[in-house]
Amino acid sequence: MKNYDTNVIWHKHLITRTERENKHGHPGILLWFTGVSGSGKSTLASYLEQALYQRSISTYLLDGDNVRYGLCKDLGFQDNERKENIRRIGEVAKLMLDAGLVVLTALISPYRSERQMVRNLFEKNQYIEVFVDTPLELCETRDPKGLYKKARDGKIKNFTGIDSFYEIPDSPEIHLDGKQDITLLINQLLQFLCNRGLITN
Ligand code: ADX
Repeated sequence: MKNYDTNVIWHKHLITRTERENKHGHPGILLWFTGVSGSGKSTLASYLEQALYQRSISTYLLDGDNVRYGLCKDLGFQDNERKENIRRIGEVAKLMLDAGLVVLTALISPYRSERQMVRNLFEKNQYIEVFVDTPLELCETRDPKGLYKKARDGKIKNFTGIDSFYEIPDSPEIHLDGKQDITLLINQLLQFLCNRGLITN
């Protein structure tokens, strides 16, 4: 805690999270997609968001690449910068949950400690870690943005999976086999949310 923090007093506002959630008709939760570049995080999160939207769920998708165009445009891919990237998006997600939204994030988030840091920001059951488990070789073959090739050619440094680590999640709430068909994976996600009572079908 910084010194000046002792002079900053939390203001309790009149409208609560529960009231905002009641207005939306569902609780706020966070679906934190993690996996290497090209694993399918953004695509899956985007299709899931669409499926939830069609079920009248209030959503927002925070995508690593997109957030790096604005809020995190000052950050690169050194360990400390990734850490700050994850911290900022975790805090933004927390605000959005306070607004009563179902938030989806698609970030590599390669380190266990940072994912744990985000988990610690939330109440139990609010944070749902989704591990998109796609073999690196397959991601490299897909190479949708041509970045693996650049990394192999030494044109990008600290590229996850090439010269920077990805730490596999120990116990994600949802473990997706990224080799499977997208429709099957979306159904797996929807089934999980059905079991949680967020949606009915
Ligand atoms: S994270 O590690 O901080 O979570 P984030 O998800 O925001 O990463 O950004 C990853 C995206 O940035 C990748 O999908 C890729 O398009 C791009 N990128 C650019 N440089 C790198 C790099 N060195 N390592 C990984 N991804 C990179």
